[in-house]
Amino acid sequence: MHRRSFHICSLICVVMALTSVSVNAQQRTFFSDPKNLQVLPGDISPSELDSQMRRFKLALGVECSHCHVGSDDRRLSDFDFPSDAKEPKRVAREMLKMLAVINSTVSSIDRGPGHQAVEVACVTCHRGNVRPLMIKDLLAATYAEHDGDIGAVIAKYRALRDENYGGFAFDFGEFPVSGLAFTLNSQGQPEDAIKLQKMNMEYHPDSPNIPSGMGFIYRETGQLELAADAFRKSLEIDPKGRWVARQLVEVEKLLADRTSPDRALSE
Ligand code: HEC
Ligand code: HEC
Repeated sequence: MHRRSFHICSLICVVMALTSVSVNAQQRTFFSDPKNLQVLPGDISPSELDSQMRRFKLALGVECSHCHVGSDDRRLSDFDFPSDAKEPKRVAREMLKMLAVINSTVSSIDRGPGHQAVEVACVTCHRGNVRPLMIKDLLAATYAEHDGDIGAVIAKYRALRDENYGGFAFDFGEFPVSGLAFTLNSQGQPEDAIKLQKMNMEYHPDSPNIPSGMGFIYRETGQLELAADAFRKSLEIDPKGRWVARQLVEVEKLLADRTSPDRALSE
């Protein structure tokens, strides 16, 4: 009896293995007959569930196994998709609920007739990252972890850039780094801020904002010659920078006063 059902089973397996259509159907039962949907609609079509899962995967830059029990080296049919053993799967459910709230809020804002609301998706925040940190926050965390070692921050940025440039996970424009430099300066670390901006300038040699930002920090710390040089460099790149031009005039005046104390006294 046992033996015979075993034979029937193996016969079925052989037949299924030989007929590609059946194999395909067998592989896809996990999409066509979901057992444990708690947030997605129970009547979701297999193809919609499939593409929803692919979107999760791409949005977070992970494999199915990040959320599901199974090995990515094996066939998908070996996965235990209904299982809730992995924490990220449970987080993802909360994210789905959050997204429903966000999108219903966005679409309920009255923007007049014909306005098409933007739909927020996982990728809007995640951009291929499991943890959707902005580059500035990531670098600030590196700075804290390495007890204020700016060299570690610079190395981290270069490595991130090497790995991710051209992708959409991070913004390698000038502003996240400038933003961190200003934060460091306001936290009493002007030298680290300058080192960071020097690196930033390597990648964005045509930006007038980086030298003018450095000029601001140099001026604040009383390094007037360096400040004047930095403002001049900024003006070379963008002669129309009015704020920068005013800064340069002021710094040049301070320098003149400093080098001719007699005149400063007589004024
Ligand atoms: C970011 C996490 C995440 C990733 C990555 C992910 N899934 Fe899911 N998956 C979920 C969540 C959450 C559910 C349950 C949704 C619910 O409760 O409504 C689910 C449900 C499923 C189900 C239905 C399971 C059942 O029987 O209830 C299948 C099948 C599935 N996923 C397949 C995949 C495949 C294949 C991949 C890779 C292409 C994948 N998933 C990637 C989070 C993920
Ligand atoms: C509004 C922005 C936002 C959106 C939209 C969003 N997430 Fe998240 N997600 C976050 C943040 C922030 C975290 C980090 C939470 C933390 O610090 O633990 C996170 C964390 C996660 C994690 C945990 C990652 C891990 O393994 O450590 C998963 C899984 C996840 N999100 C899945 C999703 C999925 C799936 C969607 C789309 C249904 C989604 N998220 C949409 C902001 C978002």
